[in-house]
Amino acid sequence: MALIHAIYTSIFQEGLKPDALEAILEKSRENNEKQQITGMLIYASGLFLQLIEGEEQAVEALLTNIKEDQRHYGYAPLVKEPISQRSFSDWSMGFAEEKPEALGKILGLEGALGAQELFEKLKTTKGWPRLFLEHYAERVKKG
Ligand SMILES: Cc1cc2nc3c(=O)[nH]c(=O)nc-3n(C[C@H](O)[C@H](O)[C@H](O)COP(=O)(O)O)c2cc1C
Repeated sequence: MALIHAIYTSIFQEGLKPDALEAILEKSRENNEKQQITGMLIYASGLFLQLIEGEEQAVEALLTNIKEDQRHYGYAPLVKEPISQRSFSDWSMGFAEEKPEALGKILGLEGALGAQELFEKLKTTKGWPRLFLEHYAERVKKG
C-alpha cells in the first residue's frame, strides 16, 4: 500500500456559475471520505491548484476522473510522488480562495500576477510545491 500525493493546476471553465464550484466541493468531500483521499483545493480568479493525497490506486482513479471533467480545462500535472505521511489528514478536501497575486507571493513568484500568468508560471517554476505545502499545511494545523 503506497501513499502518494499529486498536484495539478487547471482553469475553471468560463461561464460556470459559483454554484458549480460549490457542487464540485460538496461532491469531492463526499467521495474523498469514502476513498480515504485528503487534500487541498485552491481557487484564484479562475485558476485551480489542487493537492490530492491517498493510496496510489485511489489517487490515480480520481485523477482520471478529474482530467476528464468538463468544468475545467488545461489540466497540467505538476507533481506526483510517494509520501511518508499525509499533510492534510483531517481534510477530505480543504478549500481556500486566494487572489492570484497573493498565491504568487506564497509561491515566491515576483510581481502582480493574473490567473493566466500564474498558470503558466506554475508549470515552469521549480521548488514551489514545497512552499505551497508548508503554507497550507501550517494553516490547517492552526485551524
Ligand atoms: C477542479 C476540480 C476538482 C475536483 N476535485 C475532486 C475531488 O477531490 N474528489 C472528487 O471525488 N471529485 C473531484 N472533482 C470532480 C470529479 O471530476 C468528478 O466529477 C467526480 O469525482 C465524479 O464523481 P461521481 O462519479 O460520484 O459523480 C473535481 C472536479 C474539478 C473540476
